[in-house]
Amino acid sequence: MDTSLQNYIPELTYLSSGLSVRQVLTLLAEKFPGQVTFSSSFSFEDQVVTHEILNNKLPIKIFTLDTGRLFAETYSVWSSTNTKYESAVKAYYPNNALLEEFVQANGPNAFYESVDHRKKCCFIRKVEPLKRALKDNAVWVTGLRAEHSPDRNSLTVFEWDEGNQIIKYNPILHWTTEQVRKYIDDNNVPYNPLHDKGFVSIGCAPCTRAIRPGEDFRAGRWWWEDAAKKECGLHVHS
Ligand code: ADX
Ligand code: SF4
Repeated sequence: MDTSLQNYIPELTYLSSGLSVRQVLTLLAEKFPGQVTFSSSFSFEDQVVTHEILNNKLPIKIFTLDTGRLFAETYSVWSSTNTKYESAVKAYYPNNALLEEFVQANGPNAFYESVDHRKKCCFIRKVEPLKRALKDNAVWVTGLRAEHSPDRNSLTVFEWDEGNQIIKYNPILHWTTEQVRKYIDDNNVPYNPLHDKGFVSIGCAPCTRAIRPGEDFRAGRWWWEDAAKKECGLHVHS
């Protein structure tokens, strides 16, 4: 991977100021043809970015990490997205040998037993497939939002991901929940019905619950763990 990629960040930050999400995505697709990829978990946020890409027919790849443990509702919104936009989101799967060995040794629900097991499960089902999905790309587009956690509040719209040696673009980092919901409604975008049932941040089914009014946005993820440990390794902030 080209180590000078990191040097583009100040220029991209400057060029993108005042541009819409669509305009910035277009600029990135022109600057790095065939090397811009967007990761979708089919959340509210991700559906906004998907709509920007597919509705405007932007030459940007879209992939999802199918952990095998997603909610039935997530598979439904994936399917309706493919239908609405006549597209096919690419899925990356866990390495079968690694997964078989882990489940054989620790059982299917080992994530509840220890933080180590939970992190190993996230590594096998998400982090390792993510590395394959990002390979040979220059820009990784995400649906990260600052409101989701204090950690994410310190992120910038363009970032350098040292671990993956890639430019990260977080186009809706500073959007509010209301803005996201309005965009989804106004544009008639398919969305995960769990968002109407108190689910805010949606990951794998056994590791996600709805939150109660007033609870932190990430309270429904790995709720049995310490708040400080609640990242799965997809997004590593320096
Ligand atoms: S996580 O780190 O806790 O799992 P979160 O669910 O908040 O991440 O989502 C933040 C961003 O990470 C999403 O907008 C999306 O870009 C990416 N992401 C998370 N989960 C997946 C997934 N299963 N497949 C593809 N991208 C994902
Ligand atoms: Fe495994 Fe839970 Fe992580 Fe999904 S969120 S990969 S089921 S530990």
